[in-house]
Amino acid sequence: MILSGDRLADVPVDSRGCNGRNLVEDAAGWDFLMLLPQFGIFAQGTAAHRFLEFRVDSTIGSDQVASAFASLREPAVTAGGVNLVIGFAPALWRKLAPAHAPVSLHEFRDVVGADGRKAPATQYDAWLWISGATDDVVFEHARAATAHLGGVASVSAEQACFAQRDSRDLTGFIDGTANPAILDAGVAALVPPGEVGEGGSHVLVMRWEHKLDQFDALTVTEQEAVFGRTKVDSIELDSARKPPTAHIARVELRGDGGQEVPIYRRSVPYGSTDVHGLYFVAFSADSGRFDTMLARMFGANGDGLYDRLTDFSRPVSGSFYFAPALSLLAELAGSF
Ligand code: HEM
Repeated sequence: MILSGDRLADVPVDSRGCNGRNLVEDAAGWDFLMLLPQFGIFAQGTAAHRFLEFRVDSTIGSDQVASAFASLREPAVTAGGVNLVIGFAPALWRKLAPAHAPVSLHEFRDVVGADGRKAPATQYDAWLWISGATDDVVFEHARAATAHLGGVASVSAEQACFAQRDSRDLTGFIDGTANPAILDAGVAALVPPGEVGEGGSHVLVMRWEHKLDQFDALTVTEQEAVFGRTKVDSIELDSARKPPTAHIARVELRGDGGQEVPIYRRSVPYGSTDVHGLYFVAFSADSGRFDTMLARMFGANGDGLYDRLTDFSRPVSGSFYFAPALSLLAELAGSF
């Protein structure tokens, strides 16, 4: 196996550039091999989304499971312009590729606050995110993907989602304002070069159900205090008007040097007129950021506060997945 950071000169010639690895040149003029991430993580402008969570048949061998998921990138699924992101539950990924599983990778566990406020764990084995321009194309590819996985994995949870107006959550607030810009998104979302799992990403997936009637009954000023931003143009409230329980006050993390510790969010709304909310999806270079944010949201970090947003929306599912580097998926598809 060739690792990122190996000098090209040290790599057998017939291995160069294979399986999605890119050759890049550093300042000293050496060529290095770089692992490519799953590009769907960063694909913008897609209006239609479908998320599927799977249980994998535990009697099926790892080799068969790995090649079934990894070969989803073959033409039957990728033709027609959809983006596909594949994630594996921590336990399954450890089984499929132990050498590429970050130590901190762990299953989602219930997050329970001091007052019983809770984010429940509903961890499944694998996750697919298919996004594209229109519902029909996304649906068609989701069906092809599940057929391809038949015999290995079955769908346990499925959610179709849509982009709303200028990236607004169903509460009417813009979701994504403080997301890292595209050039910084890779640093926020991907395990850095040299670390176990490099080029892969920790994924947090949660389905939230909103109590929109209750939220809509608030004045706009009260709603803005829930999020910590203005409703129309998403401007951050100044410290005098932003309560410590505002959503952004609970989830904005700072490192030791005062620098922001970001995640990369790709959440989208879903729902019927009766049951609706946000399908929260975020990618991170490490899993600890999620743990800290969730503990702060649900009042489980011991400071006596919680996120006011959790009075108006509650999660009904919660899972962690690992979305390995694209190059590694390609290798898994071909190596068994
Ligand atoms: C019902 C669920 C949620 C809704 C409706 C929601 C909505 C929002 C909105 C409107 C903003 C402000 C605009 C922006 O910067 O995007 C925001 C910011 C943010 N949210 Fe959420 N969010 C939800 C759940 C979560 C969860 C579960 C996490 C993390 C575990 C999270 C992490 C963040 C972060 C890191 C920011 C940026 C904070 C900053 O640096 O300003 N959100 N969210």
